[in-house]
Parts: sequence; C-alpha cells; structure tokens
Amino acid sequence: MINLILCGGSGTRLWPLSRKYLPKQFVKIFDGESLFQKTVKRNMHLCDELFIISGENQYFLAVDQLEELDILKNKKVRFFLESEGRNTAPAIALSCFDMDPQETVLVCPSDHIVSDLDIYEQAVARAAELAEEENLVTFGISPSYPETGYGYIQAKGEDVRAFKEKPDAATAQKYLKSGDYLWNSGMFCFKSSTILKAMAKHSKDIFEASENAYNNRSIIGENQFKIKKKDMQSIPAESIDYAVMERTDNVKVVYGEFGWNDVGSFKSLFDLSEKDIVNNAVLNLQTEKVLKPVVINARDNLIINNKRQIAVIGEDNLVVVDTDDALLIANKSESQKVKEIVNQLKERG
Ligand code: GDD
Ligand code: MG
Repeated sequence: MINLILCGGSGTRLWPLSRKYLPKQFVKIFDGESLFQKTVKRNMHLCDELFIISGENQYFLAVDQLEELDILKNKKVRFFLESEGRNTAPAIALSCFDMDPQETVLVCPSDHIVSDLDIYEQAVARAAELAEEENLVTFGISPSYPETGYGYIQAKGEDVRAFKEKPDAATAQKYLKSGDYLWNSGMFCFKSSTILKAMAKHSKDIFEASENAYNNRSIIGENQFKIKKKDMQSIPAESIDYAVMERTDNVKVVYGEFGWNDVGSFKSLFDLSEKDIVNNAVLNLQTEKVLKPVVINARDNLIINNKRQIAVIGEDNLVVVDTDDALLIANKSESQKVKEIVNQLKERG
C-alpha cells in the first residue's frame, strides 16, 4: 500500500501560527513534532511507500522534516511538487497517474490528529480490504456538532447512501439530528485504478487536464516530479469530495473512532490540548529554554508560547499566540475570525 500525503493546504485559520511559507501541517507544536511528521509516523509501518504531494514552496520543509524522522534512507519516497495548488482532486489524480493501477492507496491529509493508533490500524486494515473490491473507501467519524466545514456521509453499516460536502448550517443541523450521518474524516483508501476510473466518469475535465499535466511533468530528481504552472492552471480546481465522492455510488465507509481531530481552529487546538487545574492550555513553539507563562486569576486560555515571557492577569477565554514577528490576542469564541486578519493583511500587500 502507498501512503499518499496531501500537504498543499495553507490553513489560514491558525494565523500567526501558520503562514504562507509555514502552513499549519509543518508547525512543530505537538511535543516538538508537526502534524505532517505525526501523519508520516502513524502510517509508515502500514505502507510500503510514501508519496508526498505539496506546493513547491513546501518541498524543503517536507524533506527536512522527513530527514528528522530518518525516513528518506529507509523508504521509497516520491515527491510531486505543484507550482500552484488546484485542490485535492487534481492532487490525487496526478499522484495516481504515477502508480501501478492495481496499487492500493491510503490518502491522508497532513493536518489531523489521531490519538488511538490501535483502532486506527484496524480501520485502515478494513479499508484496504474494501478497496481491493473496487470501492472508494471513506473513514467516518461520529459527529458531535453541526460543523459546516466537513463532508457528511449518510451510512448504513459500511454502505454509503449519500455523500454531502460542506452542507449549510440548517442542513448540517438536520443531518446531526437524524443520527444517520457521519463526518467525513478526509482520509480515503482505494485502488489507483478505481479512483481514476471514477474521476474519468464523473469529472472528465479534471481527469483529462490532470492526465495532460502529468504527461508534461518535469522530472527534477530521482522520484521527484514537478508540474509546470501553465499545466496546473489548466486543471479545474476542485476537491475530491465534490469532484468524485458526491457523485459516485461505489463508496464505502469504515467507522473511524480513533480519536480524530482536524485541528482546524484555535478552539479545536485548545480542546485537544492538556489543561492545568484552571483549564489553561500552554503549547510551546520552542523545545529548549521554555519560559512557562505566569497566569494569575485567569482561566480557559490557550497560550502559545515562543521566546518571550508571557503573563496573563484576570482574563479568561483568550487565545494568545506569540511568534517571532506577529502576536495574536483574541477572544477564543471569535478566534475563527483570524481568516479575516489574513485577508486584510493580504490586501495591504
Ligand atoms: N497537494 C495538495 N494540493 N494538497 C492540498 C491541496 C492542493 O491543492 N489543497 C488541499 N490540500 C491538502 C491540505 O493540506 C489538507 O491536508 C488536505 O489536502 C485536505 O484539504 P483541506 O483544504 O484541509 O480540506 P477541508 O478541510 O476543507 O475538507 C476536507 O477535510 C474535511 C475533514 O477535515 C474534506 O475531505 C471534508 O469532506 C472533510 O470533512
Ligand atoms: Mg482541512
């Protein structure tokens, strides 16, 4: 099985932790490791090969972080570098064109947490069996609130009745209430031939433009390919969820009760972090010389600590993120608005 890791996303919801040149999957905030490294580690003994598809700006980050894990010496690693991201459907198609059609592929986003690895391995093993039978396999998570940023899977056992990507708030509420739906984790398992066949049928334009771009690829090193900008730009940008999963009927689901979290916001980062007795969470960007924050009469705060001493007095529910060149102080309940900060900063140039 090949582990295809998608790591071209930018994750603007965690600014200033995630930046244009340091997307969140590469930020080392979890005991000195990044989410990308954690993703590689949890799959490396389940898969024979690693396939990384990312933006060309992230190549050196990915290589450095793989070297820290000592992966490059021991495993075949292929790199596909996109000069411009066109979302996940083209990324998956381009990668699958480079594989044996019979190869089973485990597609993993690079920015998720999985806390129960035993259950995870069982789920992946079952997904691989279903993938062998020409299914497109998803991993479903029990929903706990009506998130509108996820895909929803209407499931009956392992059969998928419907797949609905990013519903509006009222529909998400209805799905949650019905009890019939699971969240789509964003991981997939299929044979390379199964996904390419489905894409050719349901998103012919993406399939053809990706095939053409693949045929024009530049070989930049051993097992390293790059797609030229004009070829990337010719591929319609769409996610695999809209381009294929919503449209086909050979979709299966494996239940993924393995402590999944997609770390999409400061709130989810807070929820999965360890807290002190007054419910403050501290994460450290530095692994050496960590300066413990001084917190007086303050609770429920998320503090992301860097080189400076941080102190908080009499404030609850804050997000404080200190980085070398930007400082964020936000109310936790409004911290998803950091996207607006990124937009404003972009406008300023
Ligand atoms: N190589 C590459 N190129 N990777 C990409 C690109 C791209 O153009 N765009 C996104 N990615 C990577 C991201 O880095 C991430 O690891 C993964 O693909 C998924 O992309 P997101 O942009 O984070 O997707 P999403 O969160 O909106 O939605 C997906 O994940 C949800 C769960 O977290 C969907 O699959 C939803 O259905 C799902 O619920
Ligand atoms: Mg995501």
